[in-house]
Amino acid sequence: MVPDFIRNKIGINLHNKKGHPLYNLRKKIQDYFHMYTFDNLYPVVSVEDNFDSLLIPPDHPSRRTSDTFYTDDTHVLRTHTSAHQVNLLRKGYRSFLMCGDVYRKDEIDSTHYPVFHQLEGLKICRSPIMDLHKNMEGLLKFIMGDAEVRKVNSYFPFTNPSWEYEVLWQNRWLEIAGCGIIHPDILKNLKIEGTGWAFGIGLERIAMVLHQIPDIRLFWLKDERFLNQFKNNYEHVIFKEFSSHPPCTKDISFWTKPDFQQTEFFSLIREVAGDLVEDVKNIDTFTKGDKTLLCFRIVYRSMDRTLTNEEINEVQEKIRKMAVKNLNIEIR
Ligand code: PHE
Repeated sequence: MVPDFIRNKIGINLHNKKGHPLYNLRKKIQDYFHMYTFDNLYPVVSVEDNFDSLLIPPDHPSRRTSDTFYTDDTHVLRTHTSAHQVNLLRKGYRSFLMCGDVYRKDEIDSTHYPVFHQLEGLKICRSPIMDLHKNMEGLLKFIMGDAEVRKVNSYFPFTNPSWEYEVLWQNRWLEIAGCGIIHPDILKNLKIEGTGWAFGIGLERIAMVLHQIPDIRLFWLKDERFLNQFKNNYEHVIFKEFSSHPPCTKDISFWTKPDFQQTEFFSLIREVAGDLVEDVKNIDTFTKGDKTLLCFRIVYRSMDRTLTNEEINEVQEKIRKMAVKNLNIEIR
């Protein structure tokens, strides 16, 4: 049920690779908190751990197979590091960090990739609201310097109240961290008396802002021209483009039935094209009866070489064939 392209990411653990920008960032966050960090928790977890234990309701959209990779009926590739909260609390830990790879079926563009990394913190303490915001503000100042940051109300089933921290980046507010006060029912179920906070940060987002890294696929490159830029001094490194190859753009149109899930199509494109695909956009939609004609524009671009038209035609043909076979669509 999990495509090889995704399965092969398990165990790579970019956050544990010395000198990698994601490793550098998580070290920096660790330097701020001085809390024990679990950085090797296995990403295949039970549905119970990923959803139920966190009070995520049975009909919540994030549980759908169109959003989450299921490895079997009762297990998923974790969609967030929060999946380990309850087990670690049950084992007796009361203040800790967790860092790991998380998996989601998502859009395809320069800031979304089906695997990314989160760093999560949790602490049982008194006056958690004050302590949480003091820490979040302190942390963001510590890693982002003078960048403008704001806090907005948010919602997570497992925290109440909940907030989102955002950073102003090129005139846009980017969400960088979800957080909140641990839901009292979670603690009650564990027979823990007291209160506490939790937060989760997306590492790629912050690293892209800090180093001006233009495409999220770059983190996965084994190319020294990328890695060497961060190896020694990572504090104020601005990423230098080392090669820019031309894009190759192809459109694909097909008729869909109401059962069509866009994220399933994106996932299929990743499976066939791997890192060669840079961006996918729905550029046209036309509905007639119970059928909808969709047109997608797929931009292909390699990070390290120039693509040939023949090669991409082949990829495009494979996508077409697989979509017809697996997605109940009709090519126009
Ligand atoms: N798990 C949430 C997410 O992935 C982030 C979060 C962690 C929110 C901890 C609140 C507390 O979006």
